[in-house]
Amino acid sequence: AADKLWGGRFSEPTDAFVERFTASVGFDQRLYHHDIQGSIAHARMLAKVGVLAEAERDSIIEGLEAVRQDIEAGRFQWSVSLEDVHMNIEAALTERIGVTGKKLHTGRSRNDQIATDIRLYLRDEIDTIAAELNRLQEGLVELAEQEADTIMPGFTHLQSAQPVTFGHHMLAWYEMLDRDYGRLMDCRGRMNRMPLGAAALAGTSYPIDREYTAQLLGFDAPTANSLDSVSDRDFAIEFLSFASLLLTHLSRFSEELVLWTSAQFSFVDLPDRFCTGSSIMPQKKNPDVPELVRGKTGRVYGHLMSLLTLMKGQPLAYNKDNQEDKEPVFDVVDTVKGCLKAYADMMPSVGVNRNRTRSAARQGFATATDLADYLVRKGLAFRDAHEVVGQAVAHADENQCDLEDLGLDELQQFCADIGEDVYQVLTLDGSVQARNHIGGTAPEQVRGAVAQAREALARR
Ligand code: ARG
Repeated sequence: AADKLWGGRFSEPTDAFVERFTASVGFDQRLYHHDIQGSIAHARMLAKVGVLAEAERDSIIEGLEAVRQDIEAGRFQWSVSLEDVHMNIEAALTERIGVTGKKLHTGRSRNDQIATDIRLYLRDEIDTIAAELNRLQEGLVELAEQEADTIMPGFTHLQSAQPVTFGHHMLAWYEMLDRDYGRLMDCRGRMNRMPLGAAALAGTSYPIDREYTAQLLGFDAPTANSLDSVSDRDFAIEFLSFASLLLTHLSRFSEELVLWTSAQFSFVDLPDRFCTGSSIMPQKKNPDVPELVRGKTGRVYGHLMSLLTLMKGQPLAYNKDNQEDKEPVFDVVDTVKGCLKAYADMMPSVGVNRNRTRSAARQGFATATDLADYLVRKGLAFRDAHEVVGQAVAHADENQCDLEDLGLDELQQFCADIGEDVYQVLTLDGSVQARNHIGGTAPEQVRGAVAQAREALARR
């Protein structure tokens, strides 16, 4: 099959179906920019060590730049019979500059080439994603500051637990995202080693300078083992793990926003431009963006499972199985960027219904723990205080009123030590202000945490 770059030992053309079945150019053409970037660095290195003449290097670089322009102008004809992005570009180069183009692949294999391309690609996407993640964090910090004094119910078991501030709740989301950011940076750090030079699997007999190529491409160092270099896809799995946990968090935020925008909660309003209506029910304004983000979590988890399964049975070194890593990685990149953009755009314009969150916090005896703590300060053991307050709650519940609606004489039936100062303790503001320690919900702590988060974000 003389039409193939590898056709020398073949005596019949590839089956037409097999050609389509094994081709990856339909999706890996997305890597063209990084493929060319890697090839240019490889050519420079080959010239540095004397394998290519300087004129040959220059002709290759010029040719590759021209191919890049053709691709970007939509003039490039991708060919399935050339299988993948690498051979499409190499063939176009040779067509442009002649026989010198055929020298580019000296001391290189598609195996180390693709391992390099995908790292270069993912490194750029990680940087974009990190910026978008930080933009969402900034939005949450902004909202937290605005709502540092806003009272809302805090829940455990989705039952009214203790009052918290809305700002504190937003900063809980911020913390989750901050761990995601840390995981993303860890992944980037381990990924940033250069496989080029591993060639097919064993290295190459040319006097290559891997340190030089690594430096040209912005890698921290060359990889240490050629077999591992061409077969490792840990970095892709790590990226998908990061993405899965990020989507877990976004899905949880989404669940809360969906709940909070319902008429029965009405804690927040989403801007109209992030919602859609119903074709039959005129009153509807649906929180589609959070719902869709929650839904997209499933596909990201699925891709992580695909990649883990893809790798588990592979002997060293490169196997064609690895071609199946692209579509999951690409889809996760697109999904993560979409979800982060939607959230980063949306969060700063979320409206908080402060009256509504405050009145909701008043329901469900949310300051009962404060009353128990008050009794402890009066000398009771916490367990006894717990019992006393439990009885007071049952009494109030029977009378369908709140704890602070009970008169002093009524409260004193449960414990004679209760004094007039109890009513201060039973207020929502008193409750949140009392939790004034590192990590607590008091407005003062929220403002401190906001300042710290801003400093951390400014350092990135
Ligand atoms: N399309 C291949 C991939 O995605 C590129 C490497 C092909 N190497 C090979 N020996 N067939 O992994």
